[in-house]
Amino acid sequence: MVFNFTPLLRSKLPVPAPRWSSFPKFNFVGGHNDGESFPLRAFIQCMEQVLQREGKTLSTYGLESGPQGYRPLREFLSQSLFQNTGMKQSAEDILIVSGSLQALDLVNEVLLEEGDTVIVEEATYQGALQRLDRFGVRYIGAPLDNLGIRMEALESILKRLHKKDITPKYIYTIPTVQNPTGTIMPEERRLKFLKIARGYGVPIFEDDCYADLTFGAERPKAIRALDEGGQVIFCGSFSKTVAPALRVGFLAADWKILSQILAVKHDAGSGALEQMVLGEYCPNHFDGHLGRLRAILKKKCETIMEALAGEFGTAAEFSAPSGGIFIWVTLPKGVDTTKLCEVAALEGIAINSGREWSADPESGRQKLRLCFGHPSVEEIREGISLLADICHRETGIPERSRNFGR
Ligand SMILES: Cc1ncc(COP(=O)(O)O)c(C=O)c1O
Repeated sequence: MVFNFTPLLRSKLPVPAPRWSSFPKFNFVGGHNDGESFPLRAFIQCMEQVLQREGKTLSTYGLESGPQGYRPLREFLSQSLFQNTGMKQSAEDILIVSGSLQALDLVNEVLLEEGDTVIVEEATYQGALQRLDRFGVRYIGAPLDNLGIRMEALESILKRLHKKDITPKYIYTIPTVQNPTGTIMPEERRLKFLKIARGYGVPIFEDDCYADLTFGAERPKAIRALDEGGQVIFCGSFSKTVAPALRVGFLAADWKILSQILAVKHDAGSGALEQMVLGEYCPNHFDGHLGRLRAILKKKCETIMEALAGEFGTAAEFSAPSGGIFIWVTLPKGVDTTKLCEVAALEGIAINSGREWSADPESGRQKLRLCFGHPSVEEIREGISLLADICHRETGIPERSRNFGR
């Protein structure tokens, strides 16, 4: 007889995970990267070098760097954060984590309780929303424009909450190459943001995991770099710049809160081999790799914009992303993208419906998030053409493709 775990399970668990079979033929979901860009040769070389030199330290928890992660990697981050974002962050105040998803988990664990309120961007990362749902936390979506959160709208949300005696636990933002909209918040708005957050005593949780992937636009100073009061917790990741399967991310914050976060990181340290290779690879290779990756992603972004414009015509509204791997598309009223996702999946096209990326799911009904990082240029063209066929068959939209009536 098969043992039955069901009566023993904790309450409020998510639905069981489906078994993974394979990637869909046209994969426009997730944060997958461009496979051809992975710097394989340099990685093999760095792995050999670092293992020859320090491999024996793998016999201890935390190598010889302690629980915050491989010291040379933290030193690289300290230096590159200063160079690229203006942040003065010593290696002592950086914590290496198992992907920035763990950063979200740890920050939530030290700050959130059921019934709390958090402010997010009206369109934001699904993984962040799912985590807040699990905590039983109420979230409010701050309206966005093409420069990120609209500050007057944020202020009025905070004012309204203040009147009810509610102080949000944090404001979660992806200010540089926002997921899913691909916008960049300029420095002037960041300063205003800080001023407002300070005025209401609310921390900012700055998630910067796409910030290295701008397409020519200058990367503004990090909000944390502009903050003198230690009110900003910052997280980043190597998932989008090098490879998501490495599972290496990091948190940068003042020691007062970082030490509290470290105390709830109960996994005895994140995978050390990945950290060692990155620590060896990054000082000499990271910048060159980024230059090449950005050029490839920019080309893919141009391809998906051309394909959308050609296949959907005016039925697909979008702004050109300032970087990253996503495009956020609005389709006409007659389209429910959740249904479109289901039908498209049956024909080998994976797309994300806007509902899952929206603080108010209903507002995402006509929206679609497409990741162009992983599929090849040819797959992008073919996949978007097939998507337009499916969408037309199901909804009558788009009426015209490539200037011809369908
Ligand atoms: C905004 C944002 N934050 C965090 C993550 C998690 O990334 P990882 O855990 O791979 O670093 C993602 C992944 O897509 C993301 O888009």
